[in-house]
Amino acid sequence: PIPVIIDCDTGVDDALALLFAVRHPGLDLRAVTCVAGNTDVDGVVRNTLTVLEQAGAPEIPVARGAALPLIEPARSARHVHGEDGMGDIGLPAPTRAPADVDAVTLLRREILASPRPVTLIPTAPLTNIALLLRTHPEVTRNIERIVFMGGAVACGNATPVAEFNVWHDPEAAAILLTAGVPITMYGLDVFQRVVVPGADVRRLRASAEPGARLAGELLSHRPATPDVGADSEAGGIGDAGAVCAVVDPAGITTRLLPVEVSLTPGPTRGQTIVDRRPRPGESEIHAGIRDQQLVDVALDVDVDRFVKLYLTAVERA
Ligand code: BDR
Ligand code: CA
Repeated sequence: PIPVIIDCDTGVDDALALLFAVRHPGLDLRAVTCVAGNTDVDGVVRNTLTVLEQAGAPEIPVARGAALPLIEPARSARHVHGEDGMGDIGLPAPTRAPADVDAVTLLRREILASPRPVTLIPTAPLTNIALLLRTHPEVTRNIERIVFMGGAVACGNATPVAEFNVWHDPEAAAILLTAGVPITMYGLDVFQRVVVPGADVRRLRASAEPGARLAGELLSHRPATPDVGADSEAGGIGDAGAVCAVVDPAGITTRLLPVEVSLTPGPTRGQTIVDRRPRPGESEIHAGIRDQQLVDVALDVDVDRFVKLYLTAVERA
């Protein structure tokens, strides 16, 4: 199995991502780290611990990370993910406490201890990852790739042009994008498209198995995505798509492109500017971007393939 670590802000769809990662036999989820985003970091830790218990994986280490973005003030997304950050579906409190080390320490430890290079999957604002890269740059030698949910080629959600995870902590995203390790950007353009049909959501909700049932509850509490159409019971897998892209990279179509985060105050702050012009070197107007790190940007996704992949893993006994 591929060794992975998820850094999340659980979060309805982060929970869907955790359920999938725990259940897919091709993944070895070595740790989960928490960051403020969808809700405050203590709420994220609680939600994460509970979801892992319900998924039957109470042994996976969970650590509390950054409570605030690097520069931005605290902002919550309660209007999207409910008062508790989990769609207010009435989850029980966890029965264990998080690790007694912080997220950056746990990330460093698990990355360096892994016998095979780790794939990092951030599905949240990138504060923990930026702090890790700045505090312990040596970790990059044992990172295979960072596949992050964030950014957008076309349209934003937090603002007309900025996606929530990048907008929440733009400086952290900028640090990630210059980390010098291979990066895949699973942005809003693909994120919003992977939707589980209502009939499947109903079957999950009726399941006798707690993890599958939780997935059904979460999918039916997903805020409507533009692609749900007339199927009102359908639900997007959201962040879980980034984990699918690690298991099955052929399910997305990517292109290696320069990506820059707008850090200037004003209406573009937090926008990921993806340069889709013909490649550098071909024209004078590309001056200056020759040395920029290129990012594998997901431009398309095989929706049916990811829905099937998701359901098969989550409904595994
Ligand atoms: C991202 O923001 C959060 O609300 C979701 O969990 C996802 O990671 C989408 O913009
Ligand atoms: Ca998230």
